[in-house]
Amino acid sequence: METKITEIADGIYRLSTHVAEIVPPSGLTFNQFLVLGDEPMMFHTGLRKMFGLNRNALSRIIPPEKLRWIAFGHFESDECGAMNEWLAVSPDATPAHGHTGCYVSLNDFADRQPRVLGDGEVIDLGGKRVRFIDTPHTPHGWDAGVLFEETTGTLMCGDLFTQLGDDRALTSGDIVGPAIAAEDIFKYSSLNPAMGSTIRGLASLRPKTLALMHGPSFQGDGSAALLALASNYEQRTAAALHYPTANAA
Ligand SMILES: [Fe+2]
Ligand SMILES: [Fe+2]
Repeated sequence: METKITEIADGIYRLSTHVAEIVPPSGLTFNQFLVLGDEPMMFHTGLRKMFGLNRNALSRIIPPEKLRWIAFGHFESDECGAMNEWLAVSPDATPAHGHTGCYVSLNDFADRQPRVLGDGEVIDLGGKRVRFIDTPHTPHGWDAGVLFEETTGTLMCGDLFTQLGDDRALTSGDIVGPAIAAEDIFKYSSLNPAMGSTIRGLASLRPKTLALMHGPSFQGDGSAALLALASNYEQRTAAALHYPTANAA
């Protein structure tokens, strides 16, 4: 496996590793995002067992000890499995996550005390500003949230729009159809009544770039893509509520 690096927006780098063994032959990418600034931030730590790959990739951009923030969307191995490995090589880095994630998991799990982010709270990275937005249970995880980098209009949207394959790092093509196909395969989302409105709220940010954890980064009308995704999830949720049961007449 190799980790490929692409600058997806000014000063924001995608570190991407493709794992062919997951749903072959398409496979799945695992993407971390490095946001440069006076206080560089890593969004997603990557899997613990991929730490060496990601550390080597990041080292081609900045020395790991320059990292000041380590953030992610929800508490799962691919999002934060290597958090403590990063903290060990980045002595000035602080983990950051939302209230729920810190109080449920990070206050215990993290080797260094996390910064607790409120919904809408901004970390000023110096040249970049990242806003944490709570998205509970969307697409999954009670602690789920996304980060919006305001100066570039980049929404680091984690598992939203997950898709298979590794044919390109950046796209302006359709990302909704492939996301619907992946949802059909993985059923990874926690369908919930608030899901549509949660995703529609992200559309109001009018992102220019959508940084997918599992898929290419999208450049274009991020709002339109989010609204289309919201509609699909609303349809799925409605369909699930009307699923016939054994007791139905
Ligand atoms: Fe996840
Ligand atoms: Fe993920």
